[in-house]
Amino acid sequence: MTASSAPRVRIAEARAHIGQTVEIAGWLYNLRKSGKIVFPIVRDGSGIIQCVGAKADLGDEPFESLKRLTQESSLIVRGVLRADERAVGGVELDVHGFSIVQRVSEEAPYPITPKEHGIEFLMDHRHLWLRSLRQHAVLRVRHEVIRAVRDYFDSNGFTLVDTPVFTPAACEGTTTLFEVDYFDDEKAYLTQSGQLYNEATAMAFGKVYCFGPTFRAEKSKTRRHLTEFWMVEPEMAYATLDDVKQVAEEMVVFVVRRVLENRRADLAVLERDVARLEAVLPPFPKISYDEAVAILQSKGSTIEWGGDLGGGDETILSEMYDRPVMVDRYPSAVKAFYMQPDPERPEVALGVDVLAPEGYGEIIGGGQRVHDLALLEQRIAAHELPREAFEWYLDLRRYGTVPHGGFGMGIERCVSWICGLEHVRETIAFPRMLYRLRP
Ligand code: 4AD
Ligand code: MG
Repeated sequence: MTASSAPRVRIAEARAHIGQTVEIAGWLYNLRKSGKIVFPIVRDGSGIIQCVGAKADLGDEPFESLKRLTQESSLIVRGVLRADERAVGGVELDVHGFSIVQRVSEEAPYPITPKEHGIEFLMDHRHLWLRSLRQHAVLRVRHEVIRAVRDYFDSNGFTLVDTPVFTPAACEGTTTLFEVDYFDDEKAYLTQSGQLYNEATAMAFGKVYCFGPTFRAEKSKTRRHLTEFWMVEPEMAYATLDDVKQVAEEMVVFVVRRVLENRRADLAVLERDVARLEAVLPPFPKISYDEAVAILQSKGSTIEWGGDLGGGDETILSEMYDRPVMVDRYPSAVKAFYMQPDPERPEVALGVDVLAPEGYGEIIGGGQRVHDLALLEQRIAAHELPREAFEWYLDLRRYGTVPHGGFGMGIERCVSWICGLEHVRETIAFPRMLYRLRP
């Protein structure tokens, strides 16, 4: 596809080549015409650039061909890069020649036009919608969040040890398991969390994390729920609830700062109020579940002590602070079997949720795990979990058990908050939800 000897540059790097003849390989994003000049706007995945094509330079026939070019046709343009402070990216390309790789038919034009489309239409065309500027900005922020999370753990002594997707038993409760046929009539389940395996690797490496897709067969149709989402989960041996809270706070602060440093332009595309993100500094407010219930009741919630916080409750709490709030010591009864009870108050668990501000709600859940063998055996029985499937997990309490803990952060919830989105569905390239398995 090289139509000339001019070096090919990516639009993101165009500024470094001002004055040079280059070629750009991309797609037609939009096109304006004005008499004997056309202004094709080309995108190449790294950015967009306005090009200027004059009839006098191109010749009659090529000029007409370019003028009639349809949205999202693929093309390679050649010309000279010129600084122009008014242009997006501060640079324009004067077109000297071009080749069309594929012209999109005028009879069946690109379905997503600059006019408003409904969300279902856009979701049905997600494979194409990904080409638009907003979606680009969101997915770039996602990339930055993931990179920052990895950098945080990699530079703080954690070893990445990824955990399996096929698992023989539940981690977060049996009601939200996706079952698959394994071999010889055996059933397997798609993992809900890498935590249990992380506990094993933490006893081997001290500090570990896993990062991968997790699955929940949740029949919740809310702006916070996906059936497949990516979770990063650190786990630490010899750690208490306070250690878990400290790492969670440091990690969130680090991630937000990185996005502010590197993705300002994308946040601008999303019209995100960055002052709200700049406020995300330590220390985060920390309240207990008891305090949360009292606050919620005073604000009209119907929550009673003992119940889990509803989505509405989380929204109320998270709108009260300018930074994430940590809520700890939930009733053991509403939390998973592995949560360590508070020795001073066994009816509450040494667990913590981190609620993002501006109404976003829970982005992190974690805490200290039961490390005592007898107690863990009791909890497995009380939750009616299949004991055989947990024998290996009980081994971790038989051979050098220590207090330990960790947490999980859902990447999509974090990205949704940082980008200021209405719904998590735009934070992943191909979302999987209760009513959406396609495209
Ligand atoms: O609070 P959860 O269920 O905690 C666990 O899975 C623990 N085993 C993690 C650990 O301690 N290692 O889930 C953790 C986070 C939530 O705070 C939320 O951000 C995200 O995972 N999450 C979801 N994100 C999108 N869609 C869903 N259906 C989610 N369920 C949980
Ligand atoms: Mg949770």
